[in-house]
Amino acid sequence: MQIWVNGGLVDADSARVSVLDHGITVGDGVFETMKATDGQAFALTRHLDRLTASARGLGLPDPDHDEVRRACAAVLAANPMPLGRLRVTYTGGLSPLGSDRGDAPATLVVALGESTRRPDSTAVITVPWTRNERSALAGLKTTSYAENVVALARARENGASEALFANTVGQLCEGTGSNVFVVLDGQLLTPPVASGCLAGITRALAVEWTGAQEADLPFDVLERADEIFLTSTLRDVQAVHRVDGRDLPGAPGPVTAKAMRVFEERAQDNLEP
Ligand SMILES: Cc1ncc(COP(=O)(O)O)c(C=O)c1O
Repeated sequence: MQIWVNGGLVDADSARVSVLDHGITVGDGVFETMKATDGQAFALTRHLDRLTASARGLGLPDPDHDEVRRACAAVLAANPMPLGRLRVTYTGGLSPLGSDRGDAPATLVVALGESTRRPDSTAVITVPWTRNERSALAGLKTTSYAENVVALARARENGASEALFANTVGQLCEGTGSNVFVVLDGQLLTPPVASGCLAGITRALAVEWTGAQEADLPFDVLERADEIFLTSTLRDVQAVHRVDGRDLPGAPGPVTAKAMRVFEERAQDNLEP
């Protein structure tokens, strides 16, 4: 496995960043995860734009898109696989201990891991912890993801693959690594970005391709929704068949099944939607 670290490819075994990198000491970094099929990244341009938006949100220098593209291409070429998770990590670099950032250059790492196609449906849980829609980090894809680690571990303990959060005012927000859609009275709805969720790229494409509407939704909509689905880079559109103790028999329901079909068709036709 070859990994890109600060300007070139190295063997995974010798890929190193400083132990004083601000990404390691305080989680001062941003990242993107892309789906790579047969060596080609999906929606790379959208992911690069979000990487820049996240970096700006943290006050990091803009990542050099040409360099990130070169790094992605090199990693994909060096590690052929049918389905991969292409991960770009960009951090504050070597810094003093503590929250102040140094003036060293940012760190750029691009790595690829093998992935498998997700099942068409999955179980989710809700968690009591909240997303803070007023956080300095709201909407940024940062490496400060330990809250997601905790919530996802809780999901796994309960036989689920995702945990869903409300925000601080009790509205449905998102999962640890996915956005959420519900069908209510025949309408396909998803929380707005103002709820504190990440502006998911799969979410944006699903909204565009299905005509789903954004709406503030109470968290307990999950107890009533006729259908629920998740969107994310590696899930695409994935039906939910259980939320906590509630079964949704027949998932994917008709609206979800149509969204899955439309997403698959549209994404197949266009690597840069
Ligand atoms: C917190 C969070 N929400 C939503 C998503 C879904 O975003 P995307 O569709 O761009 O993968 C992710 C990304 O994996 C995420 O980390």
